[in-house]
Amino acid sequence: MLGRLNHIAIAVPDLAAATAVYRDTLGARVSAPQALAEHGVTVVFVDLGNTKVELLEPLGENSTIAGFVEKNPAGAMHHVCYEVQDIMAARDRLVASGARVLGDGNPKIGAHGKPVLFLHPKDFLGTLVELEQA
Ligand code: CO
Repeated sequence: MLGRLNHIAIAVPDLAAATAVYRDTLGARVSAPQALAEHGVTVVFVDLGNTKVELLEPLGENSTIAGFVEKNPAGAMHHVCYEVQDIMAARDRLVASGARVLGDGNPKIGAHGKPVLFLHPKDFLGTLVELEQA
């Protein structure tokens, strides 16, 4: 069921400073910032060739990552995103096995224009898992 690692997301309080770390200190290729109001984040993509790192900064009052960033003021790894061929089939299989899907259980359109779901970290080794339809 599980395909490639699509990205690792790191939540940060200051996106410009975080982008500078990846671009200038680490010498990575980074995108322009992109505001995703529906997800409550502004994101910068770091292109690593085989996968991506996404730097996330809270956007708006009700950002889902605001509390996380408050608890981790230096920034911290927020989630990993794996690709699946069929997100509805993956969801049904996981729910049948007792895993919890966050939100209303239905996929939303994610940062790459594809359907995504988030799985409860307590069911996956303490790690928030995003599934993205490949
Ligand atoms: Co993500």
